[in-house]
Amino acid sequence: MKKDLRKVVIAGNWKMNKTRVQAAELINQFKGVSDGSDVQVVVCVPYTNLETAVGAVKGTSVKIGAQNVHFEESGAFTGEISAAQLCEVGAEYVIIGHSERRQYFGETDETVNLRTKAALKSGLIPIMCVGESLDEREAGITEEILSTQIKLDFTGFTADEVKKTVIAYEPIWAIGTGKTATAEQAGEACGFIRGVIAKLYGQDVADSVTIQYGGSMNAKNAAELLAQEDVDGGLIGGASLVAADFEVIIKAAMA
Ligand code: 13P
Repeated sequence: MKKDLRKVVIAGNWKMNKTRVQAAELINQFKGVSDGSDVQVVVCVPYTNLETAVGAVKGTSVKIGAQNVHFEESGAFTGEISAAQLCEVGAEYVIIGHSERRQYFGETDETVNLRTKAALKSGLIPIMCVGESLDEREAGITEEILSTQIKLDFTGFTADEVKKTVIAYEPIWAIGTGKTATAEQAGEACGFIRGVIAKLYGQDVADSVTIQYGGSMNAKNAAELLAQEDVDGGLIGGASLVAADFEVIIKAAMA
């Protein structure tokens, strides 16, 4: 199966939740679960929790990620964090272009492209988010939106850079709404994205790139979503804040 060619990545996106004390408590509850398996568990925490989280996962296979990164190496960019600064504290992954960044903080395909480039240059693994809104899905233009985002977000990338990037398909209408895409919808969209990558960068890249589903993934629906041929993991918000639920999702990926 082609699926065996790809790394399965289960990533928690904590968004703006948890203090440092709470972060250590939560991580300590699930951190050993994936040891010895091929599933890569990642926890993307607020900047202020990075160092604590890196310390908490020491000795386990869990990796720590941030939720954004700036594209410049340094300079007058108040409030921003560089890739080198993330690497210095031990972050290995970074979410880029989350729909909340695009919606509330003016993130565009152009900045997503630049931020992803900067992350790769520093050796961080980007988790690049794409996805359509409810209006776009209802208008029947989901595929156009996804293919445009993929083309723009990867503009100027080499095949090798695309291969190193994790893509997260997150339909905006399913984020934090409790409204999950059906397993078929998730599989179909991830498969479509893989097809776009195949056309642009070749079948070999498409077969090996990790494509996650994100949007109300939880302990109940994870197994069905993760069983889809083109779904290689999940980007999980709310359910990653509850250790017992996140553990069930990790175990579903390991099954
Ligand atoms: P929820 O799992 O809370 O819907 O959030 C999904 C998400 O945005 C992950 O990045």
